[in-house]
Amino acid sequence: MHIVHISVEMAPIAKVGGLGDVVTSLSRAVQDLNHHVDIILPKYDCLNLSNVKGFQYNRSYSWGGTEIKVWFGKVEGVPVYFLEPQNRFFYTGCIYGCKNDAERFGFFCHAALEFLLQSGFHPDIIHCHDWSSAPVAWLYKDHYMHYGLSKARVVFTIHNLEFGAHFIGKAVGYSDKATTVSDSYAKEVAGNPAIAPHLYKFHGIINGIDQDIWDPYNDKFIPISYTSENVVEGKQAAKEALQQRLGLKTADLPVVGIITRLTHQKGIHLIKHAIWRTLERNGQVTFISLPLFVVLLGSAPDPRIQNDFVNLANQLHSSYGDRARLCLTYDEPLSHLIYAGADFILVPSIFEPCGLTQLIAMRYGSIPVVRKTGGLYDTVFDVDHDKERADAQGVEPNGFSFDGPDAAGVDYALNRAISAWYDGRDWFNSLCKTVMEQDWSWNKPALDYMELYHAARK
Ligand code: ADP
Ligand code: GLC
Repeated sequence: MHIVHISVEMAPIAKVGGLGDVVTSLSRAVQDLNHHVDIILPKYDCLNLSNVKGFQYNRSYSWGGTEIKVWFGKVEGVPVYFLEPQNRFFYTGCIYGCKNDAERFGFFCHAALEFLLQSGFHPDIIHCHDWSSAPVAWLYKDHYMHYGLSKARVVFTIHNLEFGAHFIGKAVGYSDKATTVSDSYAKEVAGNPAIAPHLYKFHGIINGIDQDIWDPYNDKFIPISYTSENVVEGKQAAKEALQQRLGLKTADLPVVGIITRLTHQKGIHLIKHAIWRTLERNGQVTFISLPLFVVLLGSAPDPRIQNDFVNLANQLHSSYGDRARLCLTYDEPLSHLIYAGADFILVPSIFEPCGLTQLIAMRYGSIPVVRKTGGLYDTVFDVDHDKERADAQGVEPNGFSFDGPDAAGVDYALNRAISAWYDGRDWFNSLCKTVMEQDWSWNKPALDYMELYHAARK
């Protein structure tokens, strides 16, 4: 089968969040099943071209009153066509954040379909993602399907319904199959007016992570290679390297890591509460008798949130300089070191369609502490409460979780997590080994997508 993704993000060259990871890793997994996958991406001026193999000029065509140059190269082994319209729509130094984003991406969607048509491509599936490539669905059904690309069926995936629900509703309506990125999120949004009329073709398929890209045995950003067999040694070395890199005191104490976009979705008030709680508990609670570390890596698109966290970072620097570090930036190498060096990765989201950070955490033997919502609910099974639910999924309990989006909820999960670290190191270490051995790869989800692609063609 020939599948073409039309997307505005692709990891690692044009990544803002998990959408970029998914486009790359799902493509790789489907390629491994011997299908032909291509990706069409805007040629942003901010692309990191050092990660593109064999980058070269491919062809040019005209559309929409402008010339469009097409470039080709492979990213993580996946063929990518880069569209460079001469109207400078993608020379903005960023992926999102321009006033005319809807116009820029609408143009891109149209140009991508035009590229397929003019180049004589006849894909079986055109897969588009979120509001930014939603127009593909209706442009195809209203126009291109009747003019030369008739073989293709359209699959549309919702990664986040919070943005552009209007576009998303239209794309769900026009697509042959629509998906979102976990079963629980599919249920949570089933009543949304954008989705409700289309439930018959709407499915939840959980994301996976690419185990070659996220691999503590082969990761240039961490100090020693490790597997579940030497997880204790591997994480200890990573913890020390992390503490040294961030100028924290080097000590064997529990480290809570947070790797996130700082937006409302990610539970900002809960993150702040968790930071203070983790640090202040010193001596106040019987089971926590020693200081702990908190490391936050976050990027905030909203300047008010950014300022708020800069203030918090300054406050923490003066009161807890050797135990807390807030890095307000996007830093891929540092994220790897945190996944490996932290004992816990906290994900207290208000809502979370899937979430990849809890899955990456487990791949590196870090224990997820999450709020029970969307994909977090589907992938994290509380060691104290979810044995039955985990058994039903055929996995061992693997983390700590809480329900309410409030401070009491965070406290409940975090206290149990930290207490487990102090009171039962052997048990805790065996939990790290257990989570590392769980399979959160694309093995199963890629098969689910193939089944969906086949169903779309019936
Ligand atoms: P979302 O797409 O909603 O941001 P996901 O959990 O699906 O959330 O994916 C987030 C991805 O972005 C993960 O690969 C995570 O490691 C990465 N990430 C998030 N924040 C940062 C950051 N500040 N620096 C580096 N990587 C980050
Ligand atoms: C979105 C969601 C996140 C999901 C990611 C990839 O950004 O917020 O939960 O993991 O897309 O599907």
